[in-house]
Amino acid sequence: MSAKASVAFIGLGVMGYPTAGHLARAGRPVSVYNRTAAKAERFAQEFSASAAPTPRDAAEGCDFVLSCVGNDDDLRSVTLGPTGAFAGMKKGAIFIDHTTASAQVARELATEAKRLGLGFIDAPVSGGQAGAERGALTVMCGGEAADFERAQPVMAAYACACRLMGPSGAGQLTKMVNQICIAGLIQSLSEALAFATQAGLDASAVVSLLKNGTAQSWQMENRAETMLRAEFDHGFAVEWMRKDLAICLDEARRNGARLPVAALVDQFYAGVEKIGGKRWDTSSLIALLQR
Ligand SMILES: NC(=O)c1ccc[n+]([C@@H]2O[C@H](COP(=O)([O-])OP(=O)(O)OC[C@H]3O[C@@H](n4cnc5c(N)ncnc54)[C@H](OP(=O)(O)O)[C@@H]3O)[C@@H](O)[C@H]2O)c1
Repeated sequence: MSAKASVAFIGLGVMGYPTAGHLARAGRPVSVYNRTAAKAERFAQEFSASAAPTPRDAAEGCDFVLSCVGNDDDLRSVTLGPTGAFAGMKKGAIFIDHTTASAQVARELATEAKRLGLGFIDAPVSGGQAGAERGALTVMCGGEAADFERAQPVMAAYACACRLMGPSGAGQLTKMVNQICIAGLIQSLSEALAFATQAGLDASAVVSLLKNGTAQSWQMENRAETMLRAEFDHGFAVEWMRKDLAICLDEARRNGARLPVAALVDQFYAGVEKIGGKRWDTSSLIALLQR
């Protein structure tokens, strides 16, 4: 594969814009599509890229087409139909999807891609806005090994870890595991911090001591102090987390896994939304305990 294989990127949001930027900086010809055209124009100017009016136009002639949009339906709307990316892709090209979506939509699109002679990798990411900006995302992939091998050098422009976890849908299933871990961790940390405060301890001092021991976590290292200050503007929004937990709970209903804590935490996030926190970041669970 040429080191300069051409790429298209669809969805220049919080995650997509910086991710596509790394591809342009790596010297690849990039064409972009964004529903709100102004963002695509801004990207085209900043990175000497080309902005296309539809996903199909952006995908035309490219070796790889990447996307990072909101949910299952958004993903279907940029891939399928007469103006969708699949209609413009050349045979043998590979679609890499970074949206956090269901395993079912990944399998559905992989089947359609195969019918059209295209490859499809479901490749949700972890690392947040900061990880996307630093080019340090963890990418969880599902699909065929041959497609993954071709796609990996493209994703290397912005990934610190990237692994094929199994057939189509396995990337999305791995991302569900990630979200299930995070939901419980944040609620536990919220309860612990609220308890420390209630007990009359200096919660900040408690955190700086405990993060050296076995209670340490990424959330404790990076969010405990801001949670204590009720600062909830760190990127990944409560409404996105609820979308992800709904996907997890739906999958668990199918595979028989029990997710009592994730289901409960989802209800707590519903409570955060009720007090105006739809766009607060996920560490805002503590707000329910401080009222
Ligand atoms: N933010 C994070 O920290 C983070 C971390 C890991 C994973 N994720 C996941 O990554 C995905 C994107 O997140 P984000 O934070 O980048 O979201 P975002 O800032 O809201 O961006 C969403 C992007 O998708 C586009 N889009 C949405 N619906 C569309 C539709 N029907 N047709 C065409 N384009 C559509 C939006 O276009 P417009 O500009 O026109 O709105 C925008 O470019 C989500 O699945 C999210 O769960 C996010």
